Amino acid sequence: MSAEPATTIIDELRRALGDDAVLTGAEIGERHRGDASQTGRHLPKAVLRPASADEVAAALRICNAHRQSVVPQGGMTGLAGAANPATADFALSLERLAGIEDIDRAAGTMTVKAGTPLEMAQNAAAAQGFLLPIDLGARGSCQIGGNLSTNAGGIRVIRHGVTRDNVLGLEVVLADGTVLTMLNKMAKNNTGYDLRQLFIGAEGTLGVITRAVLRLKPLPEGRSTALLALAAYDDVVALLNRAKSELASLSAFEAMWQSYFRFNCEAESLRLFESAPPFAVIIETEGAGHDAALEAFLEGVLTDGLIADALIAQSEKERRSFWVVREGLAMDRLLPSLVNLDVSLAIGSLGIFAAECAMALDRRFPGCHVSFYGHIGDSNLHVSVSVAGASQADLHDIDEIAYRLVAQYGGSISAEHGIGTLKRDYLGYSRSLEELGVMRRIKQALDPNGILNPGKVLKR
Ligand code: LAC
Ligand code: ZN
Repeated sequence: MSAEPATTIIDELRRALGDDAVLTGAEIGERHRGDASQTGRHLPKAVLRPASADEVAAALRICNAHRQSVVPQGGMTGLAGAANPATADFALSLERLAGIEDIDRAAGTMTVKAGTPLEMAQNAAAAQGFLLPIDLGARGSCQIGGNLSTNAGGIRVIRHGVTRDNVLGLEVVLADGTVLTMLNKMAKNNTGYDLRQLFIGAEGTLGVITRAVLRLKPLPEGRSTALLALAAYDDVVALLNRAKSELASLSAFEAMWQSYFRFNCEAESLRLFESAPPFAVIIETEGAGHDAALEAFLEGVLTDGLIADALIAQSEKERRSFWVVREGLAMDRLLPSLVNLDVSLAIGSLGIFAAECAMALDRRFPGCHVSFYGHIGDSNLHVSVSVAGASQADLHDIDEIAYRLVAQYGGSISAEHGIGTLKRDYLGYSRSLEELGVMRRIKQALDPNGILNPGKVLKR
């Protein structure tokens, strides 16, 4: 009498999704190891590649029955480790669930699948005369599902809000395979709990986002960009307030502290000012009259002595050169074990915080690289720290020094990058025990077996 060979979870998944949608062993590519934080150390045990919400549901139903942990993966551009698997996890890649389903001109909305690259969605909107306001440096490779799951911030928040402000509808698959189709296109829908917002920013711990309805805006006629030199942080704040009140078309306000600006200008061989000013600010305006408005504004603040110098980009190439310095990708290449922190504090406190943070880090790691930049209009500061030969304990100390100071200032340890694993153990610096308790109850209610992205955001 021969026993039936036991069916494995892999057999079940192959039957449900097709053989080529379930990768194992040598078929699993390196990119599934981890996100852009470069902290992913493990390949997952399998990679699932569903091509529809129904297939996501089938996959999760099977994994839930087997108590198999699942890590959703998008474009892998996150910076908090949320998409990094452990060796026992299955990765759920959304890359085959891609494409724009609908642009509704009357509603001003786009219905898009989760695996669509952000830039593809932006271009599809632009081709129809619309702006998709969500925008960030990783636009070429990040995916809509990841943008939503991390509630990504970026460079247009000052004008258009964070990602969650631009989402009208959502489709989500729960851990047990239940599909919630909430593809609402209306600005007003006051019908009980806002389930949609639960999943935005949950980093794949409560459900897997499969589709979304995004808000579109009219495509602006054009954009003007200026790079300004300032002498002090207080001037940066005064400039921001003037820009907010005088420039109705303001669409970006980004600041760079001197060492950040100098490092990236040198790395890119760009000489934008004679010498690096204490603060450099990028201002952009968009829409009708964007260029005249910006010029008039700059004349005013120059006359009033608020800024020391100003360059207005005369070409797309020049505009890109300002942004290349601001995006600072050269730093990842040139500085060993670069840590990129993302915090927020009341705008008026960012200057003193940066000074104290630099001093505290230098005391602990004399001569280390510390520099600051960020979306100052959104009270969001990034801190770049590089300690040559840093050990895991050193990296921990860097976090600890910065986050303790953030807590003292009543700020947030994550402004826009999310929590993932890298900030998980510091969540209590910004959220109360009571809040964390409610988060745990929500997690337990929606994913009682704890299969969805375990250990991310909250400890297991
Ligand atoms: C930026 C990313 C690091 O603002 O958030 O460039
Ligand atoms: Zn940022």
